[in-house]
Amino acid sequence: MRTETPPLIRLEDYRPSAFLIDRVNLDIVLDPHATRITADLALRPNPAGAPDGPLHLDGDDLTLVGLDLDGAPVPGADYAVDASGLTLHRPPRRPFMLRVVTEVDPTANTKLMGLYRTDGVYCTQCEADGFRRITYFLDRPDVMAVYTTRIEARREEAPVLLGNGNPVEAGPVGEDRHYAVWHDPHPKPAYLFAVVGGRLGKVEAPFRTMEGRDVTCAVYVEPGREDRAGYALDAVIRSMQWDERAFGRAYDLDVFNVVAVSAFNMGAMENKGLNIFNDKYVLAVPETATDADYANIEAIIAHEYFHNWSGNRVTCRDWFQLCLKEGLTVFRDQEFSSDMRSRPVHRIGEVRSLRARQFPEDAGPLRHPVRPNAYAEINNFYTATVYDKGAEIVRMLRTLIGPAAFRAGMDRYFADNDGRAATVEDFLAAFATVTGRDLSAFARWYERPGTPRLSAQGAYDAAARRYTLHLAQALPTEGPPLVIPVALGLVGAGGPLDGATCASAADGVFILDRIEAELVFENVTEEPVPSLLRDFSAPVRLDLALSDAQRLRLLARDSDPFNRWQAAQDVALRLILAPDAARTDAFAEALGTFLDGEALADPAFAALVLALPTEAEAADALSGDIDPDAIHRARHALRAHLGRALAPRLTRIDAALAPAEGASYSPDAASAGRRALRNAALDLMAAGDPQAGAALATRRLDAATNMTDRLAALATIAQIPGEAREAALASFGERYAHEPLVLDKWFALQATIPEEGTLARIAALKGHPAFAMTNPNRVRALIGSFSMGNPTQFARADGSGFALVADTVKALDSANPQIAARLLTAFGSWRRLEKNRRQAAAEMLNGIKAVPGLSRDVADILVRTLK
Ligand code: PHE
Ligand code: ZN
Repeated sequence: MRTETPPLIRLEDYRPSAFLIDRVNLDIVLDPHATRITADLALRPNPAGAPDGPLHLDGDDLTLVGLDLDGAPVPGADYAVDASGLTLHRPPRRPFMLRVVTEVDPTANTKLMGLYRTDGVYCTQCEADGFRRITYFLDRPDVMAVYTTRIEARREEAPVLLGNGNPVEAGPVGEDRHYAVWHDPHPKPAYLFAVVGGRLGKVEAPFRTMEGRDVTCAVYVEPGREDRAGYALDAVIRSMQWDERAFGRAYDLDVFNVVAVSAFNMGAMENKGLNIFNDKYVLAVPETATDADYANIEAIIAHEYFHNWSGNRVTCRDWFQLCLKEGLTVFRDQEFSSDMRSRPVHRIGEVRSLRARQFPEDAGPLRHPVRPNAYAEINNFYTATVYDKGAEIVRMLRTLIGPAAFRAGMDRYFADNDGRAATVEDFLAAFATVTGRDLSAFARWYERPGTPRLSAQGAYDAAARRYTLHLAQALPTEGPPLVIPVALGLVGAGGPLDGATCASAADGVFILDRIEAELVFENVTEEPVPSLLRDFSAPVRLDLALSDAQRLRLLARDSDPFNRWQAAQDVALRLILAPDAARTDAFAEALGTFLDGEALADPAFAALVLALPTEAEAADALSGDIDPDAIHRARHALRAHLGRALAPRLTRIDAALAPAEGASYSPDAASAGRRALRNAALDLMAAGDPQAGAALATRRLDAATNMTDRLAALATIAQIPGEAREAALASFGERYAHEPLVLDKWFALQATIPEEGTLARIAALKGHPAFAMTNPNRVRALIGSFSMGNPTQFARADGSGFALVADTVKALDSANPQIAARLLTAFGSWRRLEKNRRQAAAEMLNGIKAVPGLSRDVADILVRTLK
């Protein structure tokens, strides 16, 4: 059997639903194998629709037990059930009640969509189309209803019963059962529905909104782990405060619940009043969580909370509009984290991840517009492009119209669309209304795939004290130009040339809305170095030919922290692509001066300056075929050279940042920054002198009092082959044998060792008692980290690395197609590899293609990757 292109759903085919559902009353009787759902649906023809045909309700993997219309059983001849749902042949042309009784088996649900069990806890996941795995429904986001949910279970099995909205009633049922009723007054699409039932511990805290509403916030976790939920709970409270202050948005229910579960396909989910989280993004104590984990928890708690307005109160009309809630909400969580931490440091992190995930996607076969116009499987469109490039568009919009107009436009958007299912056009219309501007050219960002190139060339006329800058944009696809905000300035030998003026960039931002433009700076007293795209003002690739010396001037003198960091990255990248000992010495000297001057003043920033571009970034910057081994060798050699040249400084930093005896751990950004720099210094020292480095890292491992330092030391040791490494890995594995989230770090660390032996290591780890193919976190830790973070071994010329991932995709596809498809995206850049590796990848992909009965998820990625 051949894998065919799955059929496409197109934006242009969007039609309003023929029917609407105003109210949903659910009665869910939880049972491990036969959960029974009685759904009373208040349906009516949609005045905006065309309700003359049959009524099709979506359904997937359901057992239909009963079907009544206005209280009377529907005769068998009046309806039909197939794999896609239930069709009523002649639905009434007036409002009517439909009672649908279904049965599902949550224990057998390995797809983790719909109602499933994880560690015995019942939970649901309905975005994008999981509600149809609970009952037959109009499972589309523009059908919004008010839900009342009664949940019943054995008290012993599920003492905690949670639903959307507010709790209204609870009580016993007979001897050993009980029930709870939840009511959500806010109309919502089915993808925001959720229930949870299980044995759970909780921590809670009160919050009073600016509107005077008293809210109880709670975080539910596995009993006994309550001490690990405090940071997440605190992040909930801070998120609520921040959204009031920054966007004027208050919470709108009496309770806000977060539940952590161990098996979850994604990071977390914004169900109304009942967010469900991958436990990796909730649980944290210093012994098990790193600084990065704390930062992620803070960001994702905020992200899901912020969805309450950007996603829930205002939702998406259809799934093509996914960026409407995701891009906007990522932008909001980025702003929150920037306010909680160091703004420049956070911005650099955002851009690193954009370049690591979104740029390659935008340059490869899975490229798509931020608002796609067609999809085969919506679950494959929760991408870096929709999320992160989507956030960059919102950021550019703010730059374009200014912060005050942006805030006014957001208020307008929320006011005009509250309770509605909106589109990208509705979003832009709010800003056009408050500014009176035509945003139609700006809107092209949503439609045009690919990363634009921005090229710049400058010329200095000393006699006229004039600097002329020529800017041009180019896109990989045909079409009119984009609107690119270019934040910029000029930097002289002593620092920014504040006396220089440019009429077309008065406030430091030039809006490039043509293919090319020429900017003239007057009163330029010396030959400047241009500092372009400050704070990364647009998601583009910048082509600007500067010498190392010019770049190093930016590192030393620019006022824009982002471009200071960028300058060091650019020099390092060029040295990876074209190694040169003399230039490396000069780079080391500049880094040394930088470290002497300010490493201890802003350690988090200094740690980022020391972190060289990744191998993937180097590959991405190459114009020819990629040989990952050559890139790895070059990057490693650069690190070793810098490590030797900077050794005395690194030793001083190491000593200066040693924590005080008995100091307790705090996850705050400043403390995390000190740890980051000290650990970056350790790693660079070890690159320069592996033997001494291994010894120092071993001492650090033994002395570590928190997971950040312990894992960093172990990561350094893991790069240095030998007995010490094996001993350190073994003892870490034993120490955390009963901490799955810590073992994930341990799996990932071993999977990313850039050595031959890693494949055998992974094969052995698959047999580890804590590894399970049924838990997405385990699979991502061991196999996902390998495919995304170990370029030399994944893309081995003998194909064995590809085979490992391909075999996992095949093994997982029927059980959990979403995770299988996600893993498969690691092949996205296969065509850019050198010939032997490319051939090996093609063979593997075709091998998957030959498997009969592939899921739509995997088939879709496969067909697009091979196209
Ligand atoms: N909507 C979730 C978010 O906040 C992501 C998600 C999508 C979770 C689909 C589960 C399923 O980004
Ligand atoms: Zn989201």
